[in-house]
Amino acid sequence: MIVNAKMDNTKSLIFKPAGQFEETRFEKIHNVIFDDSEEASKIVALEIAELIKQKADEGSMCVLGLATGSSPIKVYEELVRFHKEDNLSFSNVITFNLDEYFPMQPDDLQSYYHFMHEHLFNHVDILPENINIPDGTISPEDIYQYCIDYELKIKAVGGLDFQLLGIGRTGHIGFNEPGSHYNSGTRVITLDHITREDAASAFIGIDNVPKKAITMGINTIKNAKRIVLLAWGLNKAKVIQKTIEGQVTSQIPATYLQDHKNATFILDEESSSELIRIKTPWLVTSCIWTDELKKKAVFWLSEKVNKPILKLTDKDYNEYGMSGLIAKEGSAYDLNISIFNQLQHTITGWPGGKPNADDTNRPERAFPPKKRVIIFSPHPDDDVISMGGTFDRLVQQGHDVHIAYQTSGNIAVTDEDARKFAETALTLTSDTKKIEGMLKDIQSKTSNTIDSKEVRSLKGTIRRTESLAATRYLEVPDTNVHFLNLPFYETGTVKKNNLSEEDIDIMCSLIEEIKPHQIYAAGDLADPHGTHKVCLDALFMALERMKYEDAIKDCWVWLYRGAWFEWDSHEIDMAVPMSPDQVIKKRNAIFFHQSQKDKVMFRGDDSREFWVRAEDRNRLTAKKYHQLGMADYAAIEAFKRYYF
Ligand code: F6R
Repeated sequence: MIVNAKMDNTKSLIFKPAGQFEETRFEKIHNVIFDDSEEASKIVALEIAELIKQKADEGSMCVLGLATGSSPIKVYEELVRFHKEDNLSFSNVITFNLDEYFPMQPDDLQSYYHFMHEHLFNHVDILPENINIPDGTISPEDIYQYCIDYELKIKAVGGLDFQLLGIGRTGHIGFNEPGSHYNSGTRVITLDHITREDAASAFIGIDNVPKKAITMGINTIKNAKRIVLLAWGLNKAKVIQKTIEGQVTSQIPATYLQDHKNATFILDEESSSELIRIKTPWLVTSCIWTDELKKKAVFWLSEKVNKPILKLTDKDYNEYGMSGLIAKEGSAYDLNISIFNQLQHTITGWPGGKPNADDTNRPERAFPPKKRVIIFSPHPDDDVISMGGTFDRLVQQGHDVHIAYQTSGNIAVTDEDARKFAETALTLTSDTKKIEGMLKDIQSKTSNTIDSKEVRSLKGTIRRTESLAATRYLEVPDTNVHFLNLPFYETGTVKKNNLSEEDIDIMCSLIEEIKPHQIYAAGDLADPHGTHKVCLDALFMALERMKYEDAIKDCWVWLYRGAWFEWDSHEIDMAVPMSPDQVIKKRNAIFFHQSQKDKVMFRGDDSREFWVRAEDRNRLTAKKYHQLGMADYAAIEAFKRYYF
């Protein structure tokens, strides 16, 4: 955990007594960075639990402002645990939720009413009359008065003791979108397009996302006595940087929190990664120069002054806060050569190792010359999107390549596609009952129902056959293609189950069967549904369980990043260049995933098709390598080694 400056006198890990926080040079909001969101959520839940108990001891009510979305889920999980295991009572708690879509029925699966009951209220002893969530069914004529009453109700119970917040990529808090006034109260607001895109996966498509919402105002939020904002993941890094280090502006409403006397931002490593003290610490403090930090600093400087590594001078280093580094290393010349060599040694056209070659300076071992490889792919297409070029090389270089699709990916197939396939199937059989049943299910589906088991299975089959078309194109025998259908994924909705023993067993038995020398897996933690992270956790748990077994004693693990982000240059341990022809071959392999083309259902915050993103990203990595002084490749796929 990293706490920003001036935190020494605080009484709890994150609690900031009013008025005691002095700003650091760049940061205008108190913040604490945790290794991961799980640990952070527990600390936040603890602060809330202590407040509830303190109020109960005083014989008073505890008024909580609550948020929905992915950020607070683990905080609620922990509060439920406190209730069940430590007898934390919510009988003295009054809650006010920040917002609700408008219009919205409470029993709709996407309603915040449903969310709050599912994650918290159904599991604790809060009195129903103490729960307040903006009512998405209110008539447009009554809404103005309704919002005024919501404000008055908060005031009548003494105001919010504690407000929990998430932050949108637009910088919204609650649904106060850019342009919101600092003095605004509870009201109806039109949602920003970006916010609707972010919600699209929960609504199975942006067209189903309501255009409006009722939200508490900035002023309502700022009047809370204590504010804690949670932000996890790379998706939030840019907006967090602007909010904490930028000027107060209505264009990023969260910046209004700079004026609050008792607000803390709780961040994980990814969401804090754009803060100056994390991204470029040498600009603000004297650093402990680890090998990784040295690489990061040199690559950054090379980009900043637009010179390849070998042309950086002592003066360049001195001018950008790295005189200490140069003093330690002797001269720019020595440092440049050392970092240049390290970068050069990441490049290889032999991702499975070059047989019979000296491998001292190669990312992979030469021996054994033919390796058994498992490429784990969270969804049926991440393999080719993220590492199609490397995949192809591994096969062409004679390795025994297995592909393991971890989930069925069924929710990402549109109803239109499923119907098309079902109608085709109908013409091929006289036993039409089952298919007609599926067609009926598809046609009677509303935004509030989930697919029947049969339709899910059809959608899974569509993705399965597309995957096989792609793996056959890359010359992998069908017997080397494994569809794991991990059970955690099979809920039919965007919300998935937690990992179970069954999931880990499935992963372990494949690893046991193949006994791989190499495993490739998605280390991309930014996919909008978190499926990649769960799939990676499943692998880590399997490796942990098997770490002393012979099956993986010679196994190296390489992490690729999915469609959303690439590793930073300093994080790359293996860079596999691609020729223009290989770029086209990879594109063709991606094209076999037709259900994911054109109208991509779950594309996160990027509206480009997957093949376009993949190509841009691989081209950009090559460009960065070139700019640092390496050869000029058409494209590069990048990997980071994971040690277990
Ligand atoms: C939710 C809310 C929003 C979310 C924000 C972040 O009640 O008011 O401001 O907190 O959109 O959402 P997640 O946590 O899903 O990234």
